Amino acid sequence: MNKDCRKAVIAGNWKMNKTPAETTGLINDLKPLIKNAGCDVVVCVPYVDLQTALECTQGTNIKVGAQNCHWEKSGAFTGEISASMLKEMGVQYVIIGHSERRTYFGDTDLTVKSRTRAALDSGMTVILCVGEYLEQREQDITFEVISTQLKIALDSVTDKELDKIIIAYEPVWAIGTGKTATAQQANEANKFIRHLISQLYNKDAAEKIVIQYGGSMNASNADELLSQPDIDGGLIGGASLKTEDFASIVKAASV
Ligand code: 13P
Repeated sequence: MNKDCRKAVIAGNWKMNKTPAETTGLINDLKPLIKNAGCDVVVCVPYVDLQTALECTQGTNIKVGAQNCHWEKSGAFTGEISASMLKEMGVQYVIIGHSERRTYFGDTDLTVKSRTRAALDSGMTVILCVGEYLEQREQDITFEVISTQLKIALDSVTDKELDKIIIAYEPVWAIGTGKTATAQQANEANKFIRHLISQLYNKDAAEKIVIQYGGSMNASNADELLSQPDIDGGLIGGASLKTEDFASIVKAASV
């Protein structure tokens, strides 16, 4: 499969970090460092930082994403935010199914499916996260786990809508632990995902879909991970909060 037909996407997942004032600072520092990026650059910020991020990134090559969305358009869902609300603000990307949402906030394969549906219906691009726990890797069921997560999440997604899906393979044991999957482990999982897409859709769709790796990607290991044939970018947690490090990762994806 030819990697040249895909544009890498480097997305920062800020998680629950940075106030609106800090958002202005971080984005303004980042802008000059990545202005010539040869990949797409997205910052997925907390809800309260979205407006600031949208204003700061206007006229730049940085796109803005949220970290979750609800599956209904509106209603009695205290504390929730809908995809249509995000879309109206101008938010173009949304992370769905992050392992922290699945582990701490009760997200399941079915809620991930509903959120994905709502985000697509609103016209946003979804960064759909999948990945196994350490015990699952040790039990040698990694591919089974990823396959189930993807089959359910993509159940209602049409061939055409797949253009608006980015898949992020994030092994849970590698998130925030400093334990990166080896480039071989990460590529093997991404290759499996691409093969699954060719079975669920077709070869052309598999060739076009962007599949990121996430989990302790940083300025030192980005080159090796991003040079793998099936790794088309990264979903970056900790290192996205340090402008120099994030910019180095963007540079590694720009070759
Ligand atoms: P870290 O890069 O901090 O390991 O986080 C990865 C992640 O969860 C991105 O969504």
